[in-house]
Amino acid sequence: MTALLLGLVVAAAATPAPTLRDLAKRHGMTISTCVATSALEGKEYQAVLAREFSALEPENELKFEPVQPERNRYDFVAIDKQVAFAKKHKMAVRGHTLVWHHQNPAWARDPKMTATELRAVLKDHIFKVMGRFRGVIGTWDVVNEAISDDAHMRHSLWFDRPGIGLDGEQTIEQAFKWAHEADPKAKLFYNDYNIETLNAKSDAVYALLSKLKQRGVPIDGFGMQCHLDPQFDKDEAFDSFRENIRRFKKLGLAVQLTELDVRIPDGSPAQLAVQARIYGRIFQIAREEGIKWVQLWGFTDAHSWIPQAFKGMGWALPWDDKYQPKPALEAIRKALE
Ligand code: XIL
Repeated sequence: MTALLLGLVVAAAATPAPTLRDLAKRHGMTISTCVATSALEGKEYQAVLAREFSALEPENELKFEPVQPERNRYDFVAIDKQVAFAKKHKMAVRGHTLVWHHQNPAWARDPKMTATELRAVLKDHIFKVMGRFRGVIGTWDVVNEAISDDAHMRHSLWFDRPGIGLDGEQTIEQAFKWAHEADPKAKLFYNDYNIETLNAKSDAVYALLSKLKQRGVPIDGFGMQCHLDPQFDKDEAFDSFRENIRRFKKLGLAVQLTELDVRIPDGSPAQLAVQARIYGRIFQIAREEGIKWVQLWGFTDAHSWIPQAFKGMGWALPWDDKYQPKPALEAIRKALE
C-alpha cells in the first residue's frame, strides 16, 4: 500500500507540466515565437522551442535586406534552416515582412532609382518571396509599421517620392493586391506597434484598415506587436486593449498578437511579478477574445532584441538567459488552463 502510494506520488511528480503548445491547442490557439537562425544551433534553445511552441516566425531572415542583399540575388539559406526545423517539429511558419521602412538594402535606397524601377523591384520581391513559400507560410505581414508615432503616414522608401509612384495609402493597397496574386491562399496582415490600446495611432490604423476593407483590398488581419513595459499594468490599459481588439474584429479582420514581450528595468522579484501579471492578463484577454495566434518576440532572455533596442531594459521573456522558467511562464500557463 505504502509502495503503491509512493509510486503514485513519484508518478505525479514526474508528470511534466503541460506545454504551452498543449495548453494553447485547447483554445485553438497557435503559440509562436520569433526565431533567429544563429540561435537555432543551441541545444537548449532547440529543446524549448520544439517542446513549447507550435509555430515560429523568422526574426530577421525574411526581411528585405537579408533576402535580397543584391538586386535580383535572393538568399534563402537562413530562412530555409528555420523552415526545416519547423517541419521536423510540426510547427507552422509565419512570414515577416514585405513592405517596411527598415532593413532595406542600400541598392534599393539608391536615390537614382526611379519610381518605375522601384515599383518593379517591390512587385518582383513580393512575388519571388511569397511564391517560394507558397503552401509553407500561410500568414504574412505584408505591410509593417506604415503609420508613424504621430499617427500619420510614415516616411518610407516605398511611400515617399519617388516611392513606387503612388501615395502611401495606394502603395499599401497595391502591396496587398500583389501579395494576394502571389499567393491567393495566404492570410495577409497589416502589422504595427503602440496600437494595442485605443489611442491616436491605433485610430489612424483603424481608419486606414477600414478604408482598405471598404475598397475590397485583400487584407485578412491586423497584427498587434505588443512590445510592452510595466506601464501596461493598469486596468485601463487592459480594458482599452480589449475594446481595441473588438473594434478591429468588427471590421471583419482577424487580430493576432505578433511580437509580445514585456521589458522590465531589472530582474528583481517585484519586477518579475509585474511582468507575470501583464503576460497573464494579455493571454487571458487573447483567449477570451478568440485570438488564434499569439507570438512572442523570442522566449529566452539569452536571445532578445530588448537590451539593444531599449537602454537599461531587459529580462523581457518568459525563460531567463539560462533557460529557467520565470513567473511569467506560470502566469501564461494559468491563463491558458
Ligand atoms: C527587430 C529584431 O528583433 C532585431 O534583431 C533587428 O535588429 C531589428 O528588428 N518590430 C518589428 C520587428 O516588426 O521586425 C523588429 O525586429 C522589432 C520591432
